[in-house]
Amino acid sequence: MARWVVASAWPYVNNVPHLGNLIGSILSADVFARYLRLRGEDVVFVSGSDEHGTPIEIEAIRRGVHPKQLTDQAHEYVSSLFREYMISFDNYTRTENPVHIRFVQEFMMKLYRNGYIFEQDDTLPYCPRDRMFLPDRFVVGTCPYCGYPKAHGDQCDNCGRLLHPTELINPRCAICGGPVEFRKTRHWFFDLPKLQDRLLRWLEESNLPANVKNYSLNWVREGLKPRSVTRDNKWGIPAPFPGAEGKTIYVWFEALLGYISATIEYFEKRGEPEAWREYWLREDTRTVFFIGKDNIPFHAIIFPAMLMASGDPYTLPWYISATEYLMYEGEQFSKSRRHGIWIDEALEILPADYWRFALIKMRPETKDTNFTWEEFYRIVNSDMNDDIGNYVHRVLSFIRSRFKGRIPEPGGLDDKDREFMDYYLSAPERVGKLLDSFRLKQALEEVVEVARHGNQYLNAKAPWDAIKREPERAATTMYVAANSVATLAVLLAPFVPASAEKLWRMLNLEGSVHEKGRWQQAAKPMLEPGHEIGKPEPLFRKLPQDFPQRAPKLIEEARRRVMEKRPPLLRW
Ligand code: MF3
Ligand code: ZN
Repeated sequence: MARWVVASAWPYVNNVPHLGNLIGSILSADVFARYLRLRGEDVVFVSGSDEHGTPIEIEAIRRGVHPKQLTDQAHEYVSSLFREYMISFDNYTRTENPVHIRFVQEFMMKLYRNGYIFEQDDTLPYCPRDRMFLPDRFVVGTCPYCGYPKAHGDQCDNCGRLLHPTELINPRCAICGGPVEFRKTRHWFFDLPKLQDRLLRWLEESNLPANVKNYSLNWVREGLKPRSVTRDNKWGIPAPFPGAEGKTIYVWFEALLGYISATIEYFEKRGEPEAWREYWLREDTRTVFFIGKDNIPFHAIIFPAMLMASGDPYTLPWYISATEYLMYEGEQFSKSRRHGIWIDEALEILPADYWRFALIKMRPETKDTNFTWEEFYRIVNSDMNDDIGNYVHRVLSFIRSRFKGRIPEPGGLDDKDREFMDYYLSAPERVGKLLDSFRLKQALEEVVEVARHGNQYLNAKAPWDAIKREPERAATTMYVAANSVATLAVLLAPFVPASAEKLWRMLNLEGSVHEKGRWQQAAKPMLEPGHEIGKPEPLFRKLPQDFPQRAPKLIEEARRRVMEKRPPLLRW
C-alpha cells in the first residue's frame, strides 16, 4: 500500500469559484481522494486559498480595501461552500497562514544557498501614469506565439505559454489601458537552465499522461530560461534573499509550495509535526495533482524543478490530471459578462450531489466540453433518476411490500442470476481501473451501467409475476437485486457522497458507506438473508420538463439570493 498526497490546484479567491473551477480541480480531486480512502489507502488531501497575486491585488485596489480584508472574507466563504459540496479535504488552508509563509521563506533560502537563485537587472513594463512597475497580469498585450490579444506579462491564457513581458506585442497597462515604458529593475531569478537536463530525463521517464508530458517536453527541449521569482508587489510573501527587502515572492513560486506546507500544517495540528516527511520525502509516496490545463507548466516544470533544486529528496509529481476547459452554453465563463454559473448560485437551485454528478459526467477530460442546461437536465432525469434512482426504488419498495422489508433467502441461482451477480460484483474492479487511470467520467458511466443492467435484470425476471407462481424464484431475484443496490451504494460514494450515505441508511447497513475498505467489500454480497432494510425514499428528484427553458430565470433568482449571503467584498 502506497501513501498518497492528493492535491487540487489552489483557487484564487478574488472571486467565488464557478462550475468550471470546481470540476477543473477540486471536485475531481475529491472523487479520487474518496475512492482511495474507500480502498483503504493512506491519503492526505490538501488545498487552500491562493491569496496573493495580481488579480487579487487589482480587485482590492478596485474596491478600495486592503487585499487581506478581501481574502479573509473570501477564504471563509469559499471554505464553507466547499464544505457544502462535501469536498473531503484533510486540510484546506490559505497562503497567508504562518506555517506556509515560514516554509516558503526557508525553502527559497535553500534554493539560494544551493546556488539556484541569482540577482540580475530585469527589463520590466512601467506605467508612467500609475507610477508603478506592472507585474504579470497588470500588463496586457498580444501573444507572440499565438496572436491572442489579451495575453498577460507572465502567461498567455490562450496557448498557455509562459511569457516574459518584453515578449508581448503592443503591451498596455491593465489599470489605465495606456502604453507602457520599459525600465530596468533588480530582481532575483530561478536558474532553470541549470536543471534542464535533469528535468528532461525526469519528464521522459515519468508516469505523466501524454497531454502533460508532451507539452512539457516540448517546452523544455526549446531551452529553459531563468524565471524571476521576485516582484515589486507589496501584497505577497516577503522575499527572504539578502538585499531583496521590499520585494515579494512571485505568487506561483510560493503557492506551489503550499502543497507541502498544507501537509505540514495538517500534521502539526494533529500533534505529529514530523509525519509530513513520510509523505513528501519518500520514494514510495504518490503525489497526484488535479489542475486545469493552463496550470501544466507550473506543475510539470517549475514545481519539480524547485523540488530538485532544494537538494532534499522530495517526491516528484507522480501524476498530474490536467483537464481542458468547461464552457458554459458555448462560451468561456466570464465574470465581467456575468456568463456562467457560480458555485454558490448552483446550490440555490439544487443540492450539491446533482452538481457533483453532472459535472463529473461533463468532465472535460480530452476536449473542451460545453455545459448546457439540456445536457444537465438529461443527466439528472435519465442517468440519476430513471437509471439509478428508479432501480433502487423498485428493488427496495418491492422487498418492503412483498418480503416484509427483509432480504429473502435465495434458492438456486440460474444463469441470468449468476450473470448479473458476476457483473455487479466485478464492477468495483472495473470502476476502480478507470479511476486508477483518472478517467473519472468513464468511471461514473460504468456505475450508471450497473443500475441499467439492474433494471434490465428486473424486467427479464419480472418478480412481480413470479411471486404469484414461483415465490422462491422471486426471492432469489430480490436477493440478487438487493445486493446489487448495496454494491451500487459503495460505487456511488466517491461521486455523490450524501446520496450514497442516504442509500446506505435505507439499506440499514452498519456504520457509514464511506468507511475504509468498503470498495473491496462491495465486490461480495453485503446483505444477508433475513437482514431488515429501512424505509425506501426516493434517492433523487426529477426536474420538470420545462427546466432547460426556465434555467436562465432560475439563475437570475439564485444570483439575487446569493448576493445577500455573500460577504460584502465578494458581491458583484
Ligand atoms: N491559483 C492558481 C489558479 O487558479 C492555481 C494555483 S495552484 C498552486 O490558476 F498549487 F500553485 F497553488
Ligand atoms: Zn499565446
